[in-house]
Amino acid sequence: MLASTSRTAMNDEGRHSVSFDVHRVREDFPILKRRIRGRPLVYLDSAASAQKPKAVLDAMQVAQETIYANVHRGVHTLSQEATDAFEAAREKLRAFINAASADEIIFVRGATEDINLVAATYGRKFLSAGDEIILSELEHHSNIVPWQLLQTEKGIVIKVAPIDDDGNFLLPAFEKLLSPRTRLVAITHVSNALGTVTPVRAIIEAAHRAGAKVLLDGCQAVPHMAVDMQALDVDFYAFSGHKMYGPTGIGVLYGKKELLATMPPYQGGGEMISTVTFAKSTFKEPPHRFEAGTPAIVEAIGLGAAADYLTALGREAVRAHEQALLAYASQRLSALPGLQIVGRAAEKAAIVSFVMEGVHAHDIGTILDRAGIAVRAGHHCAQPLMERLGLAATARASFGLYNTMEDVDALADALKIVREIFA
Ligand code: ALA
Repeated sequence: MLASTSRTAMNDEGRHSVSFDVHRVREDFPILKRRIRGRPLVYLDSAASAQKPKAVLDAMQVAQETIYANVHRGVHTLSQEATDAFEAAREKLRAFINAASADEIIFVRGATEDINLVAATYGRKFLSAGDEIILSELEHHSNIVPWQLLQTEKGIVIKVAPIDDDGNFLLPAFEKLLSPRTRLVAITHVSNALGTVTPVRAIIEAAHRAGAKVLLDGCQAVPHMAVDMQALDVDFYAFSGHKMYGPTGIGVLYGKKELLATMPPYQGGGEMISTVTFAKSTFKEPPHRFEAGTPAIVEAIGLGAAADYLTALGREAVRAHEQALLAYASQRLSALPGLQIVGRAAEKAAIVSFVMEGVHAHDIGTILDRAGIAVRAGHHCAQPLMERLGLAATARASFGLYNTMEDVDALADALKIVREIFA
């Protein structure tokens, strides 16, 4: 067994080094004290949803106990305080992804709604029959189905950028798909099923050269690495709160200000309007134009706390810790007879998908649960990817900042037992 990582790295501001002590960090997550079926919880399903630190839970509880009211509506003190906290959260998310303006941060329910919003507004307004969009074989259903709905409505053409058998995104093949008709490239930053980190800078540069806009699905990237909207020069970036240690029901759509300004509303209702008469309504500027109705106020405040939490830990320190976990898990699992790791891209986030000869992924998941180990089993909402790889399903261990080398050992030891049961 390797010693747990306790390492030093630069913090997000790069000013001084911070130490990453995973055992201390685990103290921040109350749920990690749980036992499952009499065994200590080994939580390896953070790609589906990450656990929440006390800082997030407390921020939400304090908000509800002390400043809660509806936002942007009341003249009373509580409403003003709630509005200030809600808008402060928007600013925290701006800083977290280094957007140029807080007006570029739209709060909606999560990445799925983010992508549906872009398809329903930007897509409906700017794409017409014969226009092309490019997805990749790595995509989650949430970055496929909204475009298919648009395809049915508008007659757009969907092209799919290929991967190789290890799950690497094939940049030259992608570049060949770009054409004068390409309007939008919508690609994941990190594959939820395989962990592949896609070459986003090169993708964005090539797409922009071809005159296309780029949307990145950043759901699985933001928990694992620092992302910088201005450095990337990406047009849209979508991510969910609950995968970055924040609450469910809240996510961020980043969009360049000048693009958002050209887009019609997504949903109509209160808060997104300037004036309403029965003859005609006029709409607010972004981001409020896209936030109809009462937003997830407390969840936005919780998400702001999650951004603060990751920033304070230092995302480079988190990344280094998780990369050590990934290397160790890859080494231990590769050594197990009959086990095959699915997804061996050159650059990966800490996600390890695998199959075991003669054992269904759901059986692996069920037996691991008896050992207190939580993994996801199935197609991971990426059926076209599974089809490309010739698989029905995989088991997937996805690591978070609170996982340890001991968790990897527990997984490998339990998988040996799975093997013995099915031998
Ligand atoms: N998209 C989430 C996952 O990969 C739910 O598990």
